[in-house]
Amino acid sequence: MKQAPDIQRYSAPERLNHWLVAGCFLLTAISGLGFFFPSFNWLMNILGTPQLARLLHPFTGVIMFAAFLIMFFRYWQHNLIKHDDLIWAKNIHKIARNEEVGDTGRYNFGQKCVFWAAITCLLLLLASGIVIWRPWFAAAFPLPLIRAALLLHSISAAILIMVIMVHIYAALWVKGTITAMVEGWVTARWAKKHHPRWYRELQQQDPPEQQEKRR
Ligand code: HEM
Repeated sequence: MKQAPDIQRYSAPERLNHWLVAGCFLLTAISGLGFFFPSFNWLMNILGTPQLARLLHPFTGVIMFAAFLIMFFRYWQHNLIKHDDLIWAKNIHKIARNEEVGDTGRYNFGQKCVFWAAITCLLLLLASGIVIWRPWFAAAFPLPLIRAALLLHSISAAILIMVIMVHIYAALWVKGTITAMVEGWVTARWAKKHHPRWYRELQQQDPPEQQEKRR
């Protein structure tokens, strides 16, 4: 039987953009954990030396923010919460058993939550990061504000790290997903199973024969 053609999910610039965010996230999060806990101080060496880590951490953070902003403007419309998402959320126990529920579009409710949590945490990290950024900006702010910003920075970083751990787990756990961000393609079977509305929309815009020619 002839197999349905694969479907492009991300272009090369989109993948490059995502992996730039992911790379900066790893460098920033690991060096940040290194500053936070004395027992994790050795993690600062991810950026060369502890001194270099302290210098570079805010810059890798700002690059991550700027690169994520591009993703934000590219995908925000696909991440708006719709009625079908509530059906998905109510049946999360079925999702955990690898069943599908609801008429999911390009992204499911779990992915949408990661998306909105990421932009919220990144905005908080940027704002609080500027307040605590010595020697450049911190001198302009009163000490109580710097202390509050430090707390906010640590809490939003901890939340973002946990959210991204869930994101990585889901990307590896749902078979056939990782190829979307590595090679750019997913199988038609994957799209039909996990994102049926997105699949139907693609078929309407771009019939299978056209997709096959593009490969
Ligand atoms: C470090 C390891 C990471 C891995 C293995 C990973 C993997 C993936 C994969 C496979 C997808 C495609 C999912 C799909 O299209 O269904 C994806 C999408 C995405 N990733 Fe990552 N990712 C990582 C880090 C990050 C980080 C650090 C962020 C943000 C701070 C991020 C934000 C996103 C966003 C926004 C999408 C599009 C989904 C949406 O808009 O809802 N990823 N990722």
